[in-house]
Amino acid sequence: MSDRYYITTPIYYVNDKPHIGHAYTTLACDAIARFMRLDGREVFFLTGTDEHGQKVEKAAADAGMKPQEFTDRVAQNFRDLAKAMNFSHDDFIRTTEQRHVAASQAIWRALEKSGDIYLDSYGGWYAVRDEAFYGESELTAGPDGKKIAPSGAPVEWVEEPSYFFKLSAWQDRLLKFYADNPKFILPESRRNEVVSFVRSGLHDLSISRTSFKWGVPVPSDEKHIMYVWLDALTNYITAVGYPDAKHPLWKFWPADIHVVGKDILRFHAVYWPAFLMSAGIAPPKRVFAHGWWTNEGQKISKSLGNIIDPLKLIATYGLDQTRYFLLREVPFGNDGDFSHKAMVARINAELANGIGNLAQRTLSFIAKNCAGKLPAPGALSDADKAMLGAARGLLSAMRAAMAVQELHKALGDWVDVVVRANQYIDAEAPWTLRKTNPKRMETVLWVLAETLRHLGVLILPVAPQAGNALLDQLAVAQADRVFARLGEGGALKDGTALPAPQGIFPRFVEAESKAG
Ligand code: MSP
Repeated sequence: MSDRYYITTPIYYVNDKPHIGHAYTTLACDAIARFMRLDGREVFFLTGTDEHGQKVEKAAADAGMKPQEFTDRVAQNFRDLAKAMNFSHDDFIRTTEQRHVAASQAIWRALEKSGDIYLDSYGGWYAVRDEAFYGESELTAGPDGKKIAPSGAPVEWVEEPSYFFKLSAWQDRLLKFYADNPKFILPESRRNEVVSFVRSGLHDLSISRTSFKWGVPVPSDEKHIMYVWLDALTNYITAVGYPDAKHPLWKFWPADIHVVGKDILRFHAVYWPAFLMSAGIAPPKRVFAHGWWTNEGQKISKSLGNIIDPLKLIATYGLDQTRYFLLREVPFGNDGDFSHKAMVARINAELANGIGNLAQRTLSFIAKNCAGKLPAPGALSDADKAMLGAARGLLSAMRAAMAVQELHKALGDWVDVVVRANQYIDAEAPWTLRKTNPKRMETVLWVLAETLRHLGVLILPVAPQAGNALLDQLAVAQADRVFARLGEGGALKDGTALPAPQGIFPRFVEAESKAG
């Protein structure tokens, strides 16, 4: 296993305010990046904004602004969101930066050199909303009788001179690449879709336009603007220094994973590896496609006015609660539905009654009955050993799940240990032992504290603030809040003075009942 880990989010179109879909992809990457850092890997985590193309040019015009001014303003919203969500990215790339224009032109030249670019003219359908070309057979009639793309986006007929990339020539090499790298596309069902799409035959891809200006000029022919997806995908190598092979960050390439929404999988799993192989660059190791969120059962759209604002979620439910819910509620890769009821159910059952209650019962019992110091364990019973075994076994289970991006499964394993620990405290009943067998009470409390230490460290990737608050209460030193300190080696030392306990996850109480 390499000790480096390079993870990317898609770069977001700056045509609008960020919403839950944008927060979701980056959140998943943030949790994975934090997990890998805590596991001792050298991580490079990239996010950013996709600022070129017709879609952004049009949004700027609609706002009555120059594209650069407009993108400066909207890109800032994405940075603000990243801060509010406590994202830990190492770089935030904007495609309007000079380093990126240079990298995009460099990859163009590399494709040209390999003989995969030719000049022709394009006549076909284009959806500005998706920045994508569609074949006639993919289109259907929309509600007003006009043609629409499979995504629902309106299409327009485009006819102009265009440079093409010889994608058709890459079909067999792509199929071989998928066969040789069976986990290149995850989840499995998505991989099958991509493979059958490629098998059904690839057309050459139009990669330049002459009818608008907002983009990267083709280096050898400045009347042409590079197709925004070729420009956008290149961000993943720009950020690690392309085309400078001596750049200190180039060691991170190939990326370990690009996390994307299912709607943009084709660009990442078909076009991108073909571009890279043609340019003589290794393709990324994995592309993971996640599903889409609906809101209380309805598709999220601006026209329906049901966009979910992540900042509102944080204000209503709390930051770590929101982060936890989004990653726990839906198997990563599936579509999911956001509902207030589901959010409250998760917060109250698993956070407040689960870990919150466990921490509160254990820590306040220690505060009251052990003079606020960690008690010393005596001989361990089978139940104690089983409890510690479950806590100490959690890292390897979560690691296995995270290696294939089963974030929900990693959290499910974590919750299982919380449930088990609550059963353990009920069965061992330290409140009874206090009178009947105080030495045994101390052992039970130590086992619980040690279990909480594992739960606190292992929740850091998803709920960093709450995890740290729990570890503060166990007096775990900052340097010990890493996976390498889990297990027996980093065990809590008896006699350590603990600060006064404080609740970590309050119950969510509905506003009406609060008032009443
Ligand atoms: N700019 C391109 C990506 C270029 S990457 C080289 C783009 N941008 S986007 O802003 O439209 O979308 C970014 C991501 O948000 C996509 O991964 C998309 O799947 C995700 N989501 C947008 N709406 C979503 C939901 N309702 N639910 C979950 N994710 C969704 O595409």
